[in-house]
Amino acid sequence: MPKILVTGGCGYIGSHTIVDLIEHGFEVVSVDNFCNADASVLDGMEAITGRRVFNYATDLCYLPATRLIFEEHPDIAGVIHFAALKAVGESVEQPLRYFHNNLNSLLHILTCMRDFGVRHLIFSSSCSVYGNAAELPVTETTPWQEAESPYGRSKQMGEQIIRDALPACPGMNSILLRYFNPAGAHPSALIGESPSNPASNLVPVITETAMGLRREMTVFGADYPTRDGSCVRDYIHVMDLANAHTKALQYLLEQRNESPCEVFNLGMGQGVTVLEALAAFERVSGVQPAYQIGLRRPGDVVAVYADNARAVERLGWQPGYRIDDIMRSAWDWEQRRRG
Ligand code: NAD
Ligand code: WQD
Repeated sequence: MPKILVTGGCGYIGSHTIVDLIEHGFEVVSVDNFCNADASVLDGMEAITGRRVFNYATDLCYLPATRLIFEEHPDIAGVIHFAALKAVGESVEQPLRYFHNNLNSLLHILTCMRDFGVRHLIFSSSCSVYGNAAELPVTETTPWQEAESPYGRSKQMGEQIIRDALPACPGMNSILLRYFNPAGAHPSALIGESPSNPASNLVPVITETAMGLRREMTVFGADYPTRDGSCVRDYIHVMDLANAHTKALQYLLEQRNESPCEVFNLGMGQGVTVLEALAAFERVSGVQPAYQIGLRRPGDVVAVYADNARAVERLGWQPGYRIDDIMRSAWDWEQRRRG
């Protein structure tokens, strides 16, 4: 049972990944300072897996406390580094806080991995590194454009820091996973997304509106050059995303990687418009969230979706959930957590 350190393990994607790791025979230690999570997620993970995950409530920006985790677990085989601040709009208002948190936590993880000889790192990157991509679908070699926000730039910088650090960390390998639009929840509805800030991503906005927590929501623009005028995104179920991390770890542990640093897009490979997402929600829930067509949201790109062939071919990853499954599980979770 290889032991994996999961940073941000009580967050949205981290908690679902821990469940998938445990179900595939890994032992997990989590570190999460709860700056955007609630300790009750540990109960949810236990109810699903039958295992209580130990979490260090450590701020990874504090190096001595981060080192202590590695000292207490000399048998860590790999690290999945989810911990980061992720709200795009907030990063525009608080750029220094975002750079401080997202870069220092990464630097400390890399330092400890080098010093303690931990060889395998999976890094949470984002489609935001592509900026306003010039070609669709986006492949791993699509050139980066200027980042749209300090958050996006922190992911570009994070990837570059890892590439620069690897040659000076003997034997270390890394996989950079670029997620498109993660959404949905575990089918049990025992864990899901619990944003501390008001939700701004489309799927939680839809479920909150359907719950009556918002009077109505806004579709940000219906005059784009797309099939129904609304923006196109690549929504990927969080369980599919979680499983890609397990597959990426197995890939590194089995030394199937061809170079010390490899990149994979994680998306369904299909675009869904905002209005199609709303229609899928209505189809599976029977509830019609009140919405108005509003102005375009500054910074939104018209359309972005992934070419995921590399992850499918090299990792043997096969995303199985569709937009209806995403909406059904997100709705089940929203009802359960508010119920
Ligand atoms: P999340 O906020 O739910 O999870 C991140 C977790 O990290 C939180 O629980 C938070 O408490 C913890 N954390 C943050 N800073 C920390 C620190 N300094 N020390 C210890 N813990 C800390 O976010 P998520 O949606 O699960 O995202 C996970 C990763 O995936 C992030 O790196 C994010 O940037 C990236 N990502 C997310 C999305 C998305 O839309 N959710 C898309 C692309 C990439
Ligand atoms: C999706 C679509 C909105 C809310 C963000 C980050 C990206 C990555 C994923 C972290 C857009 C529309 C939304 C609403 C709407 N995260 N929308 N009404 O902006 O594609 O990507 O999350 O790495 O970096 O930028 O996601 O969920 O905010 O928006 O019409 O109330 O839904 O305009 O077309 P986005 P989103």
